[in-house]
Amino acid sequence: MGLCEGRVVIVTGGGRGLGRAHALAFAAEGARVVVNDLGVGLDGAASGESPAGRVVEEIRAAGGEAVAHGGDIATGEGAASLIATALDTYGRLDTLVNNAGFLRDRMLVNLGEDDWDAVMRVHLKGHFLPLRHAVAHWRAEAKAGREVSARIVNTTSGAGLSGSVGQGNYAAAKAGIVGLTLVAAAETGRYGVQVNAIAPAARTRMTEQVFAGLEGVPEDVSPLVVWLGSAASAGVTGRVFEAEGGRITVMEGWRPGPTADKGGRWTPAEAGEAASRLLAEAEEPGAVYGT
Ligand SMILES: NC(=O)c1ccc[n+]([C@@H]2O[C@H](COP(=O)([O-])OP(=O)(O)OC[C@H]3O[C@@H](n4cnc5c(N)ncnc54)[C@H](O)[C@@H]3O)[C@@H](O)[C@H]2O)c1
Repeated sequence: MGLCEGRVVIVTGGGRGLGRAHALAFAAEGARVVVNDLGVGLDGAASGESPAGRVVEEIRAAGGEAVAHGGDIATGEGAASLIATALDTYGRLDTLVNNAGFLRDRMLVNLGEDDWDAVMRVHLKGHFLPLRHAVAHWRAEAKAGREVSARIVNTTSGAGLSGSVGQGNYAAAKAGIVGLTLVAAAETGRYGVQVNAIAPAARTRMTEQVFAGLEGVPEDVSPLVVWLGSAASAGVTGRVFEAEGGRITVMEGWRPGPTADKGGRWTPAEAGEAASRLLAEAEEPGAVYGT
C-alpha cells in the first residue's frame, strides 16, 4: 500500500521543476493528482506551453490517475476552479501543495512596482486563494460530521527565512508565506487540517542560472512533501522544514532573546543603552544570502 492510497492531492505549478516531482511522487504513493500549471515563462509571462498535461500523461503512463488544470492560482476564479476540479473529478480533496511561482529579481533601488506586484501576487496571493477555497471545503466536511485528515504544504524559501540580495519582492512574499502557514495551522486544526511549509533547494530552471552550485534535484525534496501531505504526518503542523538533496532540517524561527524591562518608559538614550547591552548578549543573526 502506498503512503497516499485513496488520497486526492492538488499540486500547483506541477508542470515543471519541484511541482512536477511532487506530483509524480504523490502518484507513485497511490494518490490521485490534480496537476495545476499555467505554463508561464521564468518571469511569469505567458509561454503558450501546457506542461500540466505532459505531467498528467507521465502519471498515467506509469499506471496512476491524474487530471490537468491550467488556471492561474492567483485569481479567485483559478483557485476556485482548481478545488472544484478535484471535487468534480474525484469527489474529494485531501492535500493541497502550494508551489507555483516565478521570480523577478532586481536590487531594491531598481525594483519596479510591477515586479513587486507580480511576485507578491503569484506567491502570496497564489498561496492564500487555493488555501482559502480548500479550507472552506474541509470546514464544510467537518461540520457535516465527516472525518477530515487534510494537509496543506506551502512553499517558502531560504530567501524568505534569511533574506537574499536582489530578491526583495520574493523574500517578502516567501516570508509572508511563513506567517500565513502559522495562522492557517492555528485556525484550521479544529477542522482536521494540518499546514506546514518547506523551503526547498534544487536545480530547476528557476535556480540553474542564479545558484549554479545547487547539488540536489527536485526528486530529492518530494519525499518530505509526500509525507507531510499524507495521513502519516498526523500531529505535525505549523512547522517549517528545509530540504535539499539528502538533508532535511527543522527550522527554528523567531523567538524572544535577551530582554530588559524598566517597568516604565525609557528615554531614547536609555533605550539605546539597553538595546546595545542586549545586542551584546544576543546571538548574531545568520548571513543574508548573497552577502
Ligand atoms: N528551485 C529551488 O531551489 C527553489 C528554492 C526555494 C524555493 N523554491 C520555490 O519552489 C517553487 C517551485 O519552483 P521551481 O524551482 O520548481 O520553479 P519552476 O519555474 O521550474 O516551476 C514553477 C512552475 O509554476 C508555474 N506557475 C507560475 N505561475 C503560475 C500561476 N500563476 N498559476 C499556475 N502555475 C504557475 C510555472 O508555469 C512553472 O511550471 C516556487 O514557489 C519557488 O519559489 C524553489
